[in-house]
Amino acid sequence: MIVTIDGPAGAGKSSIAHQVASQLAFEFLDTGALYRAATLAAIRAKLDLENADGLAEFVGSLELSWQDRSVRLGDEDVSELIRTPEVTKSIRFLADVPAVRAQLSQIQRDIAAGRDIVTEGRDQGAEVFPHAECKVFLTASPLERAKRRMRQLADSGRYVSLEDVLSAQNQRDLEDRMRDVGRLRAAEDAVVVNTDGMSPEEVLQQIVSLVRSRIESS
Ligand code: DC
Repeated sequence: MIVTIDGPAGAGKSSIAHQVASQLAFEFLDTGALYRAATLAAIRAKLDLENADGLAEFVGSLELSWQDRSVRLGDEDVSELIRTPEVTKSIRFLADVPAVRAQLSQIQRDIAAGRDIVTEGRDQGAEVFPHAECKVFLTASPLERAKRRMRQLADSGRYVSLEDVLSAQNQRDLEDRMRDVGRLRAAEDAVVVNTDGMSPEEVLQQIVSLVRSRIESS
């Protein structure tokens, strides 16, 4: 069974998707980590990020893999290195290229093949796994998302004002929503969960119950 969880940055997808997978003993795939790792590799290789054809060819040559909830380039686990602001601000150059998305989407389908898995991203329910048995679109108001992000940053020792977090978030929302291919959107058959005013535990239980009901009816 495939469970997709899509939604904007800061909606809490990652931690919820992890926990849903753990509670149900499903595997977990963070598709943003694949976009991040490909971006890190392109930066390291000093590629021209404006050259779409060059990026697509480069991504085809990468040894990109996902093992034990971590992303690898060849033998190197880059799960931590992909979380820098430099990588975050350059992802759009790759994420906007349809030929790059096609390759990363194929890697995602190969990882999910034959597994019980929770995949998390932007385009999972609408594009990568249109036949997924259970699709969730997790969202929250921009202010709630920015506050959550600010707390996460503070936990890791980085103090940024709410205003700065909101403005970076608005920019990413715009990029994620305007992309021609693979843009952020809820699949028609997705269940939309707005987490404003809900505790993380309530969100978790709502999604776990939904998946269980789909398992029972399948
Ligand atoms: O979930 P995240 O913040 O790690 O994702 C980083 C970026 O990767 C996000 O801004 C857009 C892109 N992305 C994408 O285009 N499609 C996905 N399925 C996942 C992420």
